[in-house]
Amino acid sequence: MFSEGEREGRTITPDDLKAGDPPVHAWPKDAANAIVRDGSRLNEVLIIRLDPNELDDDTRPRAAEGIVAYSAICSHAGCPVTAWIKASEGNDDVFKCMCHNSEYDPRRGAQVVFGPAPRRLAALPLIIKDGALVVAAPFIGKVGGQQG
Ligand code: FES
Repeated sequence: MFSEGEREGRTITPDDLKAGDPPVHAWPKDAANAIVRDGSRLNEVLIIRLDPNELDDDTRPRAAEGIVAYSAICSHAGCPVTAWIKASEGNDDVFKCMCHNSEYDPRRGAQVVFGPAPRRLAALPLIIKDGALVVAAPFIGKVGGQQG
């Protein structure tokens, strides 16, 4: 469900996400028990709809209609990743952490494409169930910064 803004607390459906829009910030909702994991900022994720044809082989199976989710916590020092802007190198838009300018490409498993971050963002596999976007499996990879 949305974790901030006008729609805070509302369940996210695929129609809420348009290709080309920036990511939304969300709390994950488990498919099995419908529990919303909103207890810690370490649970917060970025959700974005991408062109399914742009997703790499690791990313495509985790996506639902081109929609992918990643931890919103930078792997460098744990700042929230907030920006969606043109990459420092190349023409694609990427996730960017403004603390020290690390950039992550959500089409390629959020691998680091610029900056000091030591590893990719943790990925959260999604499925669409009863019209809502829910979590299909636990985070793949480590959530959070180097110290934590
Ligand atoms: S905490 Fe994100 S780049 Fe340093």
